[in-house]
Amino acid sequence: MDFKTENAAVADESKYKYKRILTGDRPTGPLHLGHYAGSLKNRVRLQAQYETFILIADIQALTTNFEHPEKLRENIFLVALDYLSAGIDPKISTIAIQSMIPEISELTTFFSMLISVNPLRHNPTIKTEAKERGYKELTYGFLGYPVSQTADIAIFKADLVPVGIDQLPHIELARKIIRKFNELYCGKLIEPYALIDKFPKLVGLDGNLKMSKSYGNAINLSDDFELIKTKIKSALTDKNRIHPTDKGNPEICTIYSYHKAFSTDTLIKETEYNCKNGKIGCVKCKENLLEVIKTLLEPMNERRAYYLKNKDEIWDILFAGTKKAKITASEIIKEVKESMKILYPPI
Ligand code: TRP
Repeated sequence: MDFKTENAAVADESKYKYKRILTGDRPTGPLHLGHYAGSLKNRVRLQAQYETFILIADIQALTTNFEHPEKLRENIFLVALDYLSAGIDPKISTIAIQSMIPEISELTTFFSMLISVNPLRHNPTIKTEAKERGYKELTYGFLGYPVSQTADIAIFKADLVPVGIDQLPHIELARKIIRKFNELYCGKLIEPYALIDKFPKLVGLDGNLKMSKSYGNAINLSDDFELIKTKIKSALTDKNRIHPTDKGNPEICTIYSYHKAFSTDTLIKETEYNCKNGKIGCVKCKENLLEVIKTLLEPMNERRAYYLKNKDEIWDILFAGTKKAKITASEIIKEVKESMKILYPPI
């Protein structure tokens, strides 16, 4: 990616006092280990410390899936199930559905005046995504989704946004738009910081730089162990290593990169040493990783089994969360209109 992390608006957790977190995902299918390592793990950790809002961004999902709005409902359910299984606690975190909060769309419209199309066209994440999807022309909605994302963040006055590293250009843009809004209208919106995890990006099973549903190289949080076993067996290792006694290069091995993201420090060091010195075969190394992933997913699977038996509870959680989020959103849109001097009496 052609932007520098150091220049971006990334928060140093130890330095500042943050209050509120907003983050979200497009409901386009089940979440995978890349989502978990990149931001979900962080959200689970942070929810006890900060007031947390998590938005299931169904309108944003439409920017790439507008032909199939009928799939959104099921996908919203699946993402919520993944959140709850991963340990998002609905008692302390608020999970909300974007399209049920029309204040976000209103704010998107106001923000759309404050940014010209060029920075959107040059946004590296937009460019990569458009290329990956083979888009020759960009819709207005797709080009503008970072503006809608800015509204997602601003409508809750969030200070901190835990996201994967590919989202950094969007957070920079959000800061720019919000700054302009505040300057122009004497607004009191908050310029957010991104919070990037130590392992911001997980490579795909095939060695592709990104684990992604669309590349078919992902381990989903909802995969059963047999499937995970098969997937890990097929994962790319150091191709030059034929025999277990060959000296390997862990740095080019997909499995080692997963060890780094999920295993204990001791196992990581052992794996590195044993691979480099031809003291462990890839088969055994993969078995070790499978155990680690099993331990990680076991408690998630217990919660998943509970919610699958109590599906209505998921919708109750989503509607209650959305209702709560809407209270904040309606207060802030009022404040926004007040600063723009377009707040009229209720009719
Ligand atoms: N664009 C994010 C993604 O694709 C999803 C998202 C939507 C989001 N709204 C957000 C992330 C607000 C952070 C904050 O993963």
